[in-house]
Amino acid sequence: MLRDLFINFNIFAKKINLNTMYNLLKGKKGIITGALDENSIAWKVAQTAHQEGASFVLTNAPVALRMGKIKELAEQCQTIVIPADATSEEDLKNLYEKSMEHLGGKVDFVLHSIGMSPNVRKNRAYNDLNYTWFQQSLDISGLSFHKMMQVGEKTDAFNDYASIVALTYIAAQRVFPDYSDMAQAKSLLESIARSYGYVLGKSKRIRVNTVSQSPTPTTAGTGISGFDAFLSYADQMSPLGNASAQECADYIITLFSDLTRRVTMQNLFHDGGFSAVGVTQEIMDLVLKSNNQ
Ligand SMILES: NC(=O)c1ccc[n+]([C@@H]2O[C@H](COP(=O)([O-])OP(=O)(O)OC[C@H]3O[C@@H](n4cnc5c(N)ncnc54)[C@H](O)[C@@H]3O)[C@@H](O)[C@H]2O)c1
Repeated sequence: MLRDLFINFNIFAKKINLNTMYNLLKGKKGIITGALDENSIAWKVAQTAHQEGASFVLTNAPVALRMGKIKELAEQCQTIVIPADATSEEDLKNLYEKSMEHLGGKVDFVLHSIGMSPNVRKNRAYNDLNYTWFQQSLDISGLSFHKMMQVGEKTDAFNDYASIVALTYIAAQRVFPDYSDMAQAKSLLESIARSYGYVLGKSKRIRVNTVSQSPTPTTAGTGISGFDAFLSYADQMSPLGNASAQECADYIITLFSDLTRRVTMQNLFHDGGFSAVGVTQEIMDLVLKSNNQ
């Protein structure tokens, strides 16, 4: 009896869409890159965009599709996966064409959630970098953002008032030694957001922003050496504590929504206040204590 009541309530809730939080993306179409597994920031963005009423296509590099679990996510979000290496203009053209075909129209949002540095992966010291790998870091993690927008424009894939977001990290502005050449890749990414945001703002009222996220335990994040210690340091340095992947997704949804139509060309810190803190009282107390010993 109780069980039947529960089942009927669930069917009713689905019918009237009770699971949707605010319907912020109702009727919007998009493309989400970078969902590798359930820890990925893009994974949470996809789940939340689905809850908020969006329809979208998922994409990742062909090699990641073999290793990751993206098909599971596609089933949850009732969508398809279109493979694309974000450094290949040909793959991106195919991605936009197939996405428009599947979604039945142009896109209203794009998430660039892509990062990889062979130098970081192979633990090369900053004064012993492999330059071929350095160029790959810049191409995959920075230049691919330009390619996504240029190919998108050339295939006429963007609706007016669309919103394009890429993920970045504060190492673009300040030194975090283990981040290595990814620091340059993120500076490039943020600079592209400003320059391309100007072009797309003028022509189609399209917003382009980067979200600078707290350290987050994902495959890309934990690939940086000393990540666990750094995660805890950043948490203690942030008045609100580190922002989680889900909180990052929630913020990105607002940027895709119509509530942020005049926000563009910005690097937006989503980091619990880390970027604005010089020192904390706790650290001062520790230093004072060790000086007095
Ligand atoms: N995790 C963190 O601490 C953190 C902090 C700030 C910003 N970011 C950024 O967030 C974004 C997402 O990373 P994440 O932390 O969710 O890790 P993740 O490892 O889950 O995602 C990175 C994704 O990039 C994809 N990728 C790599 N090369 C590609 C290529 N050539 N073409 C297409 N896709 C490719 C990977 O397959 C993967 O899905 C990255 O830009 C990362 O730099 C992460």
